[in-house]
Amino acid sequence: MTSLLTDSLRRLVMGEERLQPGHRHASIIAVCARKGGVGKTTSAVNLAAGLALCHQRRVLLVDMDSQGHCGSALHAELRGVATDTLSGVLLGKRRDVLELAMPTAIPGLYVTPSDKELGATEGIMAGRIGKELLLRSALKLARTHFDVIVVDCPPNLGSLTINALMAADWALVPCDMSVLALEGVDDIFDTLETLDETLGHAPGVLGILRTRVDARNQKVNETVESSLRSRYARHLLQTSVPVNTTLSQAQVEGRPIFRHDEHCTGARAYRALLDEIAPRLGL
Ligand SMILES: Nc1ncnc2c1ncn2[C@@H]1O[C@H](COP(=O)(O)OP(=O)(O)OP(=O)(O)O)[C@@H](O)[C@H]1O
Ligand SMILES: [Mg+2]
Repeated sequence: MTSLLTDSLRRLVMGEERLQPGHRHASIIAVCARKGGVGKTTSAVNLAAGLALCHQRRVLLVDMDSQGHCGSALHAELRGVATDTLSGVLLGKRRDVLELAMPTAIPGLYVTPSDKELGATEGIMAGRIGKELLLRSALKLARTHFDVIVVDCPPNLGSLTINALMAADWALVPCDMSVLALEGVDDIFDTLETLDETLGHAPGVLGILRTRVDARNQKVNETVESSLRSRYARHLLQTSVPVNTTLSQAQVEGRPIFRHDEHCTGARAYRALLDEIAPRLGL
């Protein structure tokens, strides 16, 4: 009985402690694309892990996709168990995303896993006042405890992605070398313009990241790249990520690429991405 009491008191005190404001001010990056399978999760996971591992930053990776791929892509690194769901936070049952941040074996890296209810949650959110700003307010405290928060978005422009964009300072837009992905990039830019006009906020564009670039498809690559350059030259990142099956293997192993094979071409590309964007993030 005494130990039960002590335990709940300890949890109460520790919980309260965790919810005190910190002294940091995280840059929030939404990794978004309308098309599925373009490398959003791969980029979000390796960006977050790379900032922690290579730049010694305190980073939170928030999975806004009900598929839960961030959790599976880092399953070998996760420590601890989820105490509640992101749905619970978005619907106001919990105060802040900070309460869900799970530590990992990577120093400085924390993860907020998604939950299967997020799809249904999206429907409930639609009836809430300020429905586009639920994530932004749920990150208020978390923001003061991290240097960077990376949000992995689902492959659509529904309420969850809109919430991520309204919470974010920056949007990172992965685009594989296909015409469909190109159309998806146009949709993201249109959405950013609409958000700015109607809600008075849109994140800056951190960059368009060419992903899954297969050097053998030279003609298609050239076509997609010249379309990107003609429309978004100033947003096109110098770094591109080649097709590299080691990236998929790392995902299956549940580790970021830097802990799976730090010398492969995928790891080199994501390290170059970090170096390219770090100055813009003020790191
Ligand atoms: N550069 C790459 N080379 C080879 N395979 C890759 C590369 N990037 C991602 N993949 C693989 O492609 C698949 C889709 O990648 P990922 O899950 O990152 O895309 P996504 O945009 O998050 O997909 P979804 O829209 O379903 O969320 C995964 O199996 C991943 O391992
Ligand atoms: Mg994904």
